[in-house]
Amino acid sequence: MSDLDQVTLGAGDKSVTLPVHTGTLGNPCIDISRLPKETGCFTYDAGFTATASCKSAITYIDGDAGVLLYRGYPIDQLAENSSFLEVAYLLINGELPDAKQFEAFSHDVTHHTMMHEALKSFLNGFRHDAHPMAMLCGSVASLSAFYHDTLDLNDPEQRRMAAVRLIAKIPTIAAAAYRYSIGWPIRYPRNNLDYVSRFLHMMFEVPSEPLELNPVVAKALDLLFILHADHEQNASTSTVRLVGSTGANPYACVSAGIAALWGPAHGGANEAVLKMLEEIGTPDKVESAIARAKDKESGFRLMGFGHRVYKNFDPRARIIREMTHKVLGELGVDDPLLEVAMKLEEAALKDDYFVERKLYPNVDFYSGIIYKALKIPTEMFTVMFAIGRTAGWVAHWLEQQTDPEAKIGRPRQIYTGADTRDYLAIDRR
Ligand code: ACO
Repeated sequence: MSDLDQVTLGAGDKSVTLPVHTGTLGNPCIDISRLPKETGCFTYDAGFTATASCKSAITYIDGDAGVLLYRGYPIDQLAENSSFLEVAYLLINGELPDAKQFEAFSHDVTHHTMMHEALKSFLNGFRHDAHPMAMLCGSVASLSAFYHDTLDLNDPEQRRMAAVRLIAKIPTIAAAAYRYSIGWPIRYPRNNLDYVSRFLHMMFEVPSEPLELNPVVAKALDLLFILHADHEQNASTSTVRLVGSTGANPYACVSAGIAALWGPAHGGANEAVLKMLEEIGTPDKVESAIARAKDKESGFRLMGFGHRVYKNFDPRARIIREMTHKVLGELGVDDPLLEVAMKLEEAALKDDYFVERKLYPNVDFYSGIIYKALKIPTEMFTVMFAIGRTAGWVAHWLEQQTDPEAKIGRPRQIYTGADTRDYLAIDRR
């Protein structure tokens, strides 16, 4: 039995009436927290497909309608009109900044972009061929050893400063990791450049000649950062929150988020998409790739397709697809992989297997082609995602710190191991 406010569940001879919470938008949620106490039962939900882990006012997704809102603003409006730094402010503070607030935030971020010199020794300790995600993960965790003045979680100013430092320093660390991997000297952040141009300068400037920053590249990257900035309780953000729930410091939390992002089922998909498109190689091989993706025995999935929440077009994928054509056109890049990607998308969207399972291109499907056109190396793709997502991670971490209902995250399990048994001495086994 259910009405808008409560649901009654029967468990054997017991029954319990549970409250139902509704947010501003979205599905009602049955509050099961009293269930174990009143019925002795837990709930089972592998992968948390039906479980809300917190209340949050940051981002809303309607996966069936293909809607994504940051603090209520549709993603396409932000993509069209805003900048990444403004979006970061919005995610963290809940409102778009006025000119003075934006100036102050921008100033704070710009003046915290330097990396502690000692961090260079960490980077120098990696093998030359270390994956930049490995370097980013380790270096961001190590920030907690440098900024003791922002580790008091009870102090709102320290929390704010940790958020600013993470947004400011992650691009510096990311660019340094890349330059280390190719043997180039590290570049210091330049305060006279905006957030994205500063990052591009740290990535690509060489001592031998001045760098001409292309505004098309900077604009495209800014847009990609906006599109990746937040996505409610995805695996990496949930990881940041789970680690945050223990009272761990924000640098450790975000480093854990970076680790979660790395997997090919999550942020690692953008790198995997490009590798897949390169492997497919030409449009005539698309059909066999589709057949392989449908064959469960093959172990192959169409990377950049499917999403836990979107059962319709990922609105970010629509924006990125349009932008891919524009950016490649403006930069005069003729990439044969774009043709392969378009053919693959077209074939999958017509195929019953993908239609029935509601598998649409996700944010990662086209982003790799743009990164490639922007001359971002493939192994840096997931790092790019991490730079954008840092805004969301810190916004969620900050929200969690003042949530009166926040508790340590501690799921239960269905135990499937051996029943109680007695220890046997080794000579009797
Ligand atoms: N190619 C082929 N089949 C797929 C794909 C795909 N990309 N994605 C899902 N399926 C199939 C599954 O085999 C399953 O089929 P079945 O019902 O016959 O068993 C069905 O669609 C449902 O898939 P699940 O894995 O149960 O869906 P889930 O919500 O758990 O996974 C995920 C979502 C991980 C994104 C999945 O679609 C996937 O692996 N996609 C490829 C990787 C990718 O692009 N990841 C990026 C996601 S977006 C992001 O993190 C930014």
